[in-house]
Amino acid sequence: MQQTSYHYPLTTHAVEAALRAGVILRKGFGTKFAISSKESDHDLVTDYDKAAEEAILDYLGNHFPTHSFLAEESGLSIHSGSDIQWIIDPLDGTLNFAHQIPMFCVSIAAMVKNEILIGVIYDPLLDELFIAEKGFGAFLNGKRLVVSHRDSIKKAVLATGFPYSSEAMREASIGQFMKFVEYTSPLRILGSAALTMAYVAAGRFDVYWGSNLQSWDLAAAVLLIVEAGGRVTHFDGSPQNIFERSNILATNTFLHDQALSILK
Ligand code: IPD
Ligand code: CA
Ligand code: CA
Repeated sequence: MQQTSYHYPLTTHAVEAALRAGVILRKGFGTKFAISSKESDHDLVTDYDKAAEEAILDYLGNHFPTHSFLAEESGLSIHSGSDIQWIIDPLDGTLNFAHQIPMFCVSIAAMVKNEILIGVIYDPLLDELFIAEKGFGAFLNGKRLVVSHRDSIKKAVLATGFPYSSEAMREASIGQFMKFVEYTSPLRILGSAALTMAYVAAGRFDVYWGSNLQSWDLAAAVLLIVEAGGRVTHFDGSPQNIFERSNILATNTFLHDQALSILK
């Protein structure tokens, strides 16, 4: 069951835009479409990334012609008359989508004066709609989300992802992976950073770490985790800055310090 009323008027529009993109992705999933590479062989873009992004930008742009937009496939369009900026990943998990792996989402956040006010993540195949509003909590299909309470890495369910580009980043990721693996805790790689972080907010995962992520991978998810009681930082414990390509440690809070010491 979806929520019907929200604390911020922007949320209704973010939800509508995410649902519209979701319809497009659901329709395209499993069909034939054009795929091309961007920065590296596995950093893909499909017709559906573009179509979903166009639908989101059309909808939000019509409603908010003076807002600024940062969208993965079309970049940044700035309007100086407003403090509001939307951050959009129309399809997070493109490689999954392109390989018919049913694990991907739409991610939309709105920032006001550089603070994330709302975050919406939508999994169109499971019809799971994650919504966070700053100061008012995080919800999954209308049900309030609270992070897990597990406080031992050995009992935790861990999640990570490997960057598609840059050998140095990959080497760092493997080193960290090996350190976590020594705890013999179950570990999952979903292939969608935004969805994985939504799962931390939902208490499905206890710890997620990922490298080389962009604002559109992170913005909505970071608010979801914080509003569900979790914690996000860089690997060195410094506050997350979603405006630079960065690494992120996202946890249920209880495991944050343990995870930081493993990442050192
Ligand atoms: C990617 C996914 C993946 C992560 C990559 C991202 P995209 O986003 O979130 O899980 O490991 O670093 O680039 O390209 O599918 O939107
Ligand atoms: Ca992404
Ligand atoms: Ca994407």
